[in-house]
Amino acid sequence: MINIPKGTKDVLPYDSYKWQFIEKTAREVAKNFGAKEIRTPTFEHTEVFLRGVGQTTDIVNKEMYTFTDKGGRSITLKPEGTAGVARSFVENGMHSGVLPAKLFYLTQCFRYERPQAGRLREFHQFGVEFLGATNPNIDAETILLAKTFLDKVGIKNVTLYLNSIGCKECRAKYKKVLSEYLRSNIDSMCELCKDRLEKNPLRILDCKNENCKKINEKAPVILDYLCDDCKEHFESVQNLLTLAGVEYKINPYIVRGLDYYNKTVFEFVSNNIGAQGTVCGGGRYDGLIAELGGSDVAGIGFAVGIERILMLLENLNVEIPNDSQIEYYVAPMGEKESEKAFEIVSMLRQKGISADLDHMNRGIKAQFKYADKIGAKKVIVIGSDELEKGIFKVKEMSTGSEEFLSIDELVK
Ligand code: HAM
Repeated sequence: MINIPKGTKDVLPYDSYKWQFIEKTAREVAKNFGAKEIRTPTFEHTEVFLRGVGQTTDIVNKEMYTFTDKGGRSITLKPEGTAGVARSFVENGMHSGVLPAKLFYLTQCFRYERPQAGRLREFHQFGVEFLGATNPNIDAETILLAKTFLDKVGIKNVTLYLNSIGCKECRAKYKKVLSEYLRSNIDSMCELCKDRLEKNPLRILDCKNENCKKINEKAPVILDYLCDDCKEHFESVQNLLTLAGVEYKINPYIVRGLDYYNKTVFEFVSNNIGAQGTVCGGGRYDGLIAELGGSDVAGIGFAVGIERILMLLENLNVEIPNDSQIEYYVAPMGEKESEKAFEIVSMLRQKGISADLDHMNRGIKAQFKYADKIGAKKVIVIGSDELEKGIFKVKEMSTGSEEFLSIDELVK
């Protein structure tokens, strides 16, 4: 037997309705907010992520599935959705189309991480990217979209953490002060953070190491270093969220693991799925489009991890509606009746009603068992009597109630 690669999962037929429900809800909510779907390739030129996600990130340094293709090009399986969407925005000249471009996607992503509950090497994201608007309205709208999606799929008890990491100017000032503070504590920091100090000191703030956490508690806070413009922007976002009734907690340790962010950053975190509790992460990225060769176009977005959502729903015992059930199972009692069953099933299907029948020459008892297993809502029994009279017994599986109908009545 050949096993599935580490960190990947099959979605089996009896579970796929859960995925369909998440995807359907994502599409509905995105549409409700005026977003249109974008599909970008599974792989991009590696440079898209080097420039997009950033050279100092864990994703680029350690986690990318990168290979040289037969034409000698460096190719990378997308580790996230934003950089590919930004590349497509630039390449397709979307900046001269309708702005803001309100885009969403459902995509698989690939990161070579150490697998654990909620952390996979192939996982799936529902993501939203709004490009072209600098107004704080759109920050609040993006967050509200994420919140609406989480609500609609049945997740209520997540905390929204909000922060602003400022613009290039105020962040540079903050980085200097932060680095000085961290440098004076370097001896007690974990090895990873010692390395981060020069490359990306902000990332130290979300380190989970106990010593680093203690150091971080006393670290200077970015919010004290925001310039007037960033401060005003952040206050507007908060006001709008309050107006929309969205609860949030300001958390200066939310810095996000990707280089493209500026100003607003946010995460929705749950305590119900263990260490990998962030179900959604996002923020503003006003320099990304220019970084990928486009014009000066602002952007903001988020991505939700679908596997984490499903884990959370399971842990919270939220029942996911299953509309993959078949409407009718037609059970013939013999060979002659079998032909009639075939005819009835074909008629039902032609009318757009889902139906199935016996393909295994099962006895009537076994057929009822099978109908139950495949989740048929109703069973139509065909015996010689029914065949003669043209009236069929229709049994409702959930209640056991029966009615007698002709083919015409059935199809109507
Ligand atoms: P991210 O925080 O790297 O952000 O990922 C977003 C979400 O994807 C996470 O909150 C998590 O639910 C899920 N996720 C990430 N890595 C894994 C993994 N290894 N296994 C399972 N789930 C995972 C981004 O990807 C940004 N592109 C989000 C964004 C869009 N920012 C602006 N626009």
